[in-house]
Amino acid sequence: MPLHLISEAPVPDVAAGVNPGSKQLIDRLSADGRLPVGDFETLLSSPSDEDRAYARDRAAAVAQRQFGNRVFVRGLIEFSSHCRKDCLYCGIRRSNRDAERYRLSPDEILACCAEGYRLGYRTFVLQSGEDGWFTTEVVTDIVRRIRAAYPDCAITLSIGERSTAAYQQFFDAGADRFLLRHETADSEHYARLHTAGQTLESRLACLSDLKRIGFQTGAGFMVGSPFQTVHHLAKDLVYLSELRPHMVGIGPFLPHHRTPFGDQPAGSVDLTLFILSLVRLMLPTVLLPATTALGVARTGGREAGIQAGANVVMLNLSPSEQRPKYLLYDNKPVSGEVFEMTDAVRRSLARIGYDVVVDRGDHPKEIR
Ligand code: 5AD
Repeated sequence: MPLHLISEAPVPDVAAGVNPGSKQLIDRLSADGRLPVGDFETLLSSPSDEDRAYARDRAAAVAQRQFGNRVFVRGLIEFSSHCRKDCLYCGIRRSNRDAERYRLSPDEILACCAEGYRLGYRTFVLQSGEDGWFTTEVVTDIVRRIRAAYPDCAITLSIGERSTAAYQQFFDAGADRFLLRHETADSEHYARLHTAGQTLESRLACLSDLKRIGFQTGAGFMVGSPFQTVHHLAKDLVYLSELRPHMVGIGPFLPHHRTPFGDQPAGSVDLTLFILSLVRLMLPTVLLPATTALGVARTGGREAGIQAGANVVMLNLSPSEQRPKYLLYDNKPVSGEVFEMTDAVRRSLARIGYDVVVDRGDHPKEIR
């Protein structure tokens, strides 16, 4: 369907059953790009099926208007499972003595890029634990090599907290984007998810550095992390409305059996989908992945994420022998050839009317 024929108006039969209070708030979020924390709390408290369907259909229409039926793919290269941090939710936390650790060499990382490029990937996401072996110089060198070999590709880093000078050096070497989820915008909640020495203040300082330096910057959080309340989620959304990041990563919390949160329940897929829709309405041009965790939590979760307003899928380009060692949560998929997974995603998105495109998939414009 030509883009100009896609109506912005909500589908009438869905709008019919929607709670008028929720509809008003969703419409206001969409018009203003923000809501007060109390209004987010109201929206998130107990959304009805109709509320969620209304937000989903409006968000899908906004994504269509911004991106058409195009979905961007990112090639994820998990290059080190060593981590000095001890986040209570994460399977590769320092205290998990059962976690096997590995590092890819720069040549191995470049080989992952080569395979990804051949398969149509034009963004490489280099992700790792916070591994001191990869100093500023080492990371800078890797970025330079990828930049030289693939001038038409975007380079995204997801390597945690570093100094302002280090971030600047990565940017100058040719890195385009940086993902650093804020995890929760409430400092007391942040303290309950992390250990001493990890503060929300320092996380937020990194995010503002990254944005100021000029990275397309990504924040985000888990839905259903332990101790999380509706108030915390409302604060997360207010924070996103203020930061106005280029990318937002949101997935359900999933327990990892060798962490202190191993017996906690997983986050709700339906609530995650609702929040993805609200984020799309709040930040119309945001790059929003339907995360791996969403696909793990529910069969078809990734496709549901795209239908709820997401427009990005990240697939794993890491060497298959190392993938079982990068388990942030239980049941993370580790098997499968990259070309098969890529093709499977292409086909499953085609079934719901979306095209996976060969494109860097940059943010369309700076947000404000
Ligand atoms: N469940 C879901 N997401 C997780 N992450 C880490 N551990 C888990 C988990 N148990 C997310 C964090 C981190 C990102 C790389 O993965 O939000 O920022």
